[in-house]
Amino acid sequence: MTAPRTLVIVAHPDLNTSRITAQLAGALTDLDGVTVRDLGSIYPDRRFDAAREQQLLREHDMIVLQFPWHWYSVPGVLKEWMNQVLTYGFAYGAGGDALHGKRLQLVISTGGPELSYTATGHNRFTMAELLRPLEASAHLCGLEMAEPLILHAAPRVSHDELAAHAVRYRKLLSAVPAGASRA
Ligand SMILES: Cc1cc2nc3c(=O)[nH]c(=O)nc-3n(C[C@H](O)[C@H](O)[C@H](O)COP(=O)(O)O)c2cc1C
Repeated sequence: MTAPRTLVIVAHPDLNTSRITAQLAGALTDLDGVTVRDLGSIYPDRRFDAAREQQLLREHDMIVLQFPWHWYSVPGVLKEWMNQVLTYGFAYGAGGDALHGKRLQLVISTGGPELSYTATGHNRFTMAELLRPLEASAHLCGLEMAEPLILHAAPRVSHDELAAHAVRYRKLLSAVPAGASRA
């Protein structure tokens, strides 16, 4: 039996300017069975190799989308990846069952604190409400969406808090048995 494999799509406009996304992605490098791809460095012009990306998606059982929360949504680079890679006949529509039954794990960092994401808070809506379009996308593609891993107030977390969060992230992915390598 082939061991399940995890594909981590790191989506930040420029990882060189990132503290949180860069450190969390860096914490995964030695995990067995985990393929980590930084979209910004592989595709600086955002012209994705859809066939390659689709092949990688087929080869993995758990898909992780890791990104900073930008304007209550995914960063532009991830939206563009979705537009170009999750195409009709592959991810949805007639014959589009390539992702059916795979697991989707969102790993998100936000600037706003957790309490700001409430009906009476600064951001007015809960993260669960704001994540509905991604939940709908997962449903359309037949992906089973896991509980998102969210780091709130990311720019203000201490070194130790960030390190503890990285440990949580590693544990989440380590729950998937080993078996793959980096792409
Ligand atoms: C263009 C842009 C839009 C942002 N929009 C939001 C937002 O809608 N809600 C929020 O809580 N934080 C927002 N932030 C803050 C980022 O989510 C936060 O700084 C990021 O998660 C930190 O991760 P990084 O160090 O990897 O960039 C935004 C930041 C930028 C640059």
